[in-house]
Amino acid sequence: MTPVKRGTRPPAQRRRARGPASVGPSSPRVLIIGSEAVPFAKTGGLADVLGALPVALARLGWSVDLALPRYRGVTAGPPVDRFPISIGGYTREVGFHETPLGASARAVLVDCPDLFDRDSLYGVDNTDYPDNPRRFAMLVRAALEFAARHGARPSVVHAHDWQGGLAPVYLKTLYASHPVLGGTPAVFTIHNLAYQGLFEPDWLPRLDLPWDLFAIERLEYWGRISFLKGGINEAEVITTVSRQYARDIQTPEFGFGFDGILRRRAADLVGVLNGIDENKWNPSTDQFLPAAFGPDDLSGKEAAKREVLSRYGLPAGETTMKRPLIGMISRMVDQKGFDLIASLVDDLVALDATWIVLGTGEPRYQNLWTMLAARHPDRVGARIGFDEGLAHVIEAGADMFLMPSRFEPCGLNQMYSLRYGTVPIVHAVGGLADTVQDATPRHAKSTGFVFREYTGSALLAALQRALRLFQDRRRWRTLQMAGMRQDNSWDRSAREYVKIYERALSHAQSRG
Ligand code: ADP
Ligand code: GLC
Repeated sequence: MTPVKRGTRPPAQRRRARGPASVGPSSPRVLIIGSEAVPFAKTGGLADVLGALPVALARLGWSVDLALPRYRGVTAGPPVDRFPISIGGYTREVGFHETPLGASARAVLVDCPDLFDRDSLYGVDNTDYPDNPRRFAMLVRAALEFAARHGARPSVVHAHDWQGGLAPVYLKTLYASHPVLGGTPAVFTIHNLAYQGLFEPDWLPRLDLPWDLFAIERLEYWGRISFLKGGINEAEVITTVSRQYARDIQTPEFGFGFDGILRRRAADLVGVLNGIDENKWNPSTDQFLPAAFGPDDLSGKEAAKREVLSRYGLPAGETTMKRPLIGMISRMVDQKGFDLIASLVDDLVALDATWIVLGTGEPRYQNLWTMLAARHPDRVGARIGFDEGLAHVIEAGADMFLMPSRFEPCGLNQMYSLRYGTVPIVHAVGGLADTVQDATPRHAKSTGFVFREYTGSALLAALQRALRLFQDRRRWRTLQMAGMRQDNSWDRSAREYVKIYERALSHAQSRG
């Protein structure tokens, strides 16, 4: 399946409905709705989050249903139900497959082949599927209908990104007086404000939604409707994936036109830093690595460096092994700083470093890196594609990890890097600013290199600082150790989500 990144994307509504399901000490239940999750389908960090969060919540005693589409190639889980769902006159028999994720967590895969059995998740050749509104409305409707039919009445619904944006909207409209779902509060998480789910307004009736949603304080956005805006305006609580990003998106610079909408809901907007799956991303047990390693013995890291160099066809002799290896694993888009890099390529390849890049994205950036690798076969390795195993070996084998994102809601790779003793070099935005501490001599807990201005010269200066410090083995090792010991576990973040779910419930109860 070609990974194509997910496509386009006032006060909570007052309504009268029966009271929300109560969270008894024994049975709180959350219905999580999202468009991708490891191990079923992945194009980016959302999948990592939705793969790990349900299990972490289950560890805290919650029952978790994770609803996502059964895309082409997803085979997990036996069928457990099948019934027709109709959206604006479009009726399909929808199947449901269930597979356990942990003690009290399960995935519910929504099977509607006409909508989900396609080459890609969101679109092909950088063009979104034109029926994406219907596809993701179906995901939401199917998730809600399944929960209602199976008596799995959620205490709270937790929807993600524009693809889940209609969940709070349907709960406040179509399902407001539903005998099972009426009054259920919603939490909406923004993973990336750049994807707003923007569509023509005539989709409203085709999705069984009333025209009064076409209003500025609801879904209307410059003459169109936005699923993301719907999620923001109709949910009880809105979260995003780092504290700094929660601040960033309330400014015109990072708000993508949504800063006013978010400022209006500032009282209910919370930043919760993502965790990382510490079982999957653990250098002492990682099956993808040639040798295990950990903070007390880094020798396996050298084996990974040799391995990654040879996989890229780069020389792995003594000189290259000593030379710092800078890695990047990324969607190749402007968000990730590829424009900045492009403006600087001659300076970058002139540095005393070896480069390895893994990614897919805009053709101009793919071509640039392919061209650089052809021109500097001893210094630059580029792999265009999506390769989970190789990503692990790069995280382990690189000495430094570059993430010069223009904006970054959270970012996971810098946290994986920290865990693997690979020192991150990052732009001071969003989750990057929250997770990487700049290596200034005064900071005892430094973990990487942070630059503030989004300019080529600031990036270059950070790289040069990193390359200089790399020569000081003792200080470098101190940096690595501080990063490897940093706690980025999901348990901490899951506890914060539980508090947010409780807050959403009390919001709904006080209104109900
Ligand atoms: P985003 O979701 O914005 O792309 P994140 O840093 O949150 O950024 O997450 C990206 C995830 O996708 C990470 O797990 C990263 O390792 C993975 N990833 C990105 N590109 C590739 C690729 N080409 N091959 C393998 N994994 C990739
Ligand atoms: C988005 C963001 C990324 C974040 C991920 C998971 O894709 O771009 O920064 O880590 O979602 O929340």
